[in-house]
Amino acid sequence: MAINASERIWHNGKLIPWDDAKIHVMSHVVNYGSSVFEGVRCYSTRSGPAIFRANEHTQRLLDSAKIYRMDVEFSRDELVAGMVELIKHNQVWPCYVRPIVLRGYGEVGVNPLNSPIDVYICNYSWGKYLGSDADQGVDVCVSSWTRIAPNTLPAIAKSGANYMNSQLIKMEAIMNGYVEGIALDVNGYVSEGSGENVFLVRNGTIQTAPLGNSVLPGITRDSVLRIARELGIPVVEQMIPREMLYIADEVFFTGTAAEITPVRSIDKISVGKGTTGAITRAIQKEFYAIITGEKEDRFGWLTPVPVKSKQPVSV
Ligand SMILES: Cc1ncc(COP(=O)(O)O)c(C=O)c1O
Repeated sequence: MAINASERIWHNGKLIPWDDAKIHVMSHVVNYGSSVFEGVRCYSTRSGPAIFRANEHTQRLLDSAKIYRMDVEFSRDELVAGMVELIKHNQVWPCYVRPIVLRGYGEVGVNPLNSPIDVYICNYSWGKYLGSDADQGVDVCVSSWTRIAPNTLPAIAKSGANYMNSQLIKMEAIMNGYVEGIALDVNGYVSEGSGENVFLVRNGTIQTAPLGNSVLPGITRDSVLRIARELGIPVVEQMIPREMLYIADEVFFTGTAAEITPVRSIDKISVGKGTTGAITRAIQKEFYAIITGEKEDRFGWLTPVPVKSKQPVSV
């Protein structure tokens, strides 16, 4: 999906023109993948644009940076304020927001400690991630690639380098005619998609892999767990054998990009009856009611962006 440039990008506290947000080819990040980042959505609610779980995303960004010993000179509140300022300035929403912390142009060796830390925030319009008809359910495979093993690349950190593994999973799936791949962890248990957490429903109980199975602690995952508990649906975070995917009544992906996307088939085995299940629909309904402002923001998940006109202005 091509990117639609917005007018400005937030760089270390200043709004700079989109085309000026350039880095040198010898920057540490280009050579060694030294970045941590976030993917956030700003929705168009009834009362104007609002960023979904801005604090939690920003906290995860700072946590990822801490794991990689990257000192970020901005606080969580300053970064959230930066997102708000940027969306307000660019007047582009609903949109995707991409904060990124990277190691810039300094030393050329592997040692990252002598390269400067740069913080950028971009926002741009972005539609459905897994295809325009993803709401009908997507056809996926179990990947032949294993998710990053514990104590190799930290799965809890959302680092650029982790997405080399994601790219292998995604490319293999696409080449074989699937929309997405589900990776198993190093012990063969269900981990996650290349850019989504995985949930399944079996006999009325929702299951998802615990963080120990090399999954990113997804903000949407957490939102779904909270909605499910509120709806009184039993939820367990437990290790999931691969074959449970084939006999599940329902399977769905969660993620900022994918939102809540039902899975229709896995390795050409139909999930349940091949239509979106009742529990997936119930969770989707609550989730979409909150992000559109149709229902009150009872969890405090939305950060409003003050704008003059409340009409969406995606470019
Ligand atoms: C590998 C991976 N897992 C899970 C997720 C879902 O996380 P979130 O709901 O915070 O977007 C993402 C999306 O960023 C991801 O890239």
